[in-house]
Amino acid sequence: MKALITAGGHGTRLRPITHTQNKHLIPIANKLMLDYALEYVRQANIIDVAIIINVGDDSIRSEFGDGSSRNIKITYIPQDAPLGLAHVVKISENFVGDDPFIFYLGDNILVGGVSRFVTEFKNANSNCHLALSKVPDPNRFGVAEIKDNKIIGIEEKPSVPKSNLAVTGIYLYDNNIFEAVNNIKPSARGELEISDAHQYLLDKGYHISYSEITGWWKDTGKPSDLLEANRLVLDNIDDSRDGIITNTEVSGNLQTGKNVKIIDSKIDGPVIIGDDSIIENAHITPHTSIGRRCEIINSEVGYSIIMSDSKIKNVTDKITGSLLGNDVQIIGNNKDQSSHRFILGDQSRIEVD
Ligand code: G1P
Repeated sequence: MKALITAGGHGTRLRPITHTQNKHLIPIANKLMLDYALEYVRQANIIDVAIIINVGDDSIRSEFGDGSSRNIKITYIPQDAPLGLAHVVKISENFVGDDPFIFYLGDNILVGGVSRFVTEFKNANSNCHLALSKVPDPNRFGVAEIKDNKIIGIEEKPSVPKSNLAVTGIYLYDNNIFEAVNNIKPSARGELEISDAHQYLLDKGYHISYSEITGWWKDTGKPSDLLEANRLVLDNIDDSRDGIITNTEVSGNLQTGKNVKIIDSKIDGPVIIGDDSIIENAHITPHTSIGRRCEIINSEVGYSIIMSDSKIKNVTDKITGSLLGNDVQIIGNNKDQSSHRFILGDQSRIEVD
């Protein structure tokens, strides 16, 4: 079995962060988003992985190389233009060959990995296996219509959804999917829709089986999705502390990297702090991820993702629900205001008066 993982797109809803960084390299609990997908396929014993990237984007290749650091073998497939998910499958035909494969959208994060779906696909002996999840807003997704426990229709972002079961970004196929992606026509938005490929399979009498995801699943399009994914992952971290922690009250789980210094502070876990960061006279509240080489001094931060090399100093009002890029500085003047919420791209500079 092989895997195709998407890492392209433009991440428009995550600007300005995505002006300087591929969305799939945003850290969730200090681990790159794409590392979750790679770890999940590796756990399912899949070694041969293609990552689909935007043409000209070298950032993914620089990070993951040939995959040996993750014990997998990575091939990169550039997509010239955002022509849809079925187009991604189409351009991957040579890589896939005759093998069955998992197609995984790299911005989908779920609890428990994908091994279960691989097994259920094999057991169902079907042509396509979809992972479905109940959602409150099915019109944002591909939606499955089910009758007598069988999928009988799939529609992409329907205005009147036939169920509340979203088709998540985890798909398993045999090579009949190539007949589908090579025969469908672009949708009104000019893309080859993966839902149209699924409907094609149904129309031609191919069998689509499914599993329902009962745990947590999210496609991380917006800052609030990333913060929620971060919360979920942090809820499951172990307590493991390195570095120097003095005169600091810690409750809940705290994970610190190498050479971290925490002085005269209060930490309410779960919180993760990357290598070489300094926390001084600060209060860090639950579900906060702080990257490497950060400084949080005389400030209060909670429910946020702070990437590496950032500095928050003398901001007495709580910073919450925030997503800060790399090398961001927020410098206050120690005066009380209320609370702040920031979505800041790399190298932002904020002075709070
Ligand atoms: C895509 C698919 C959609 C699927 C979703 C899952 O939507 O087109 O069918 O439900 O991924 O994440 P997009 O994220 O491109 O809007």
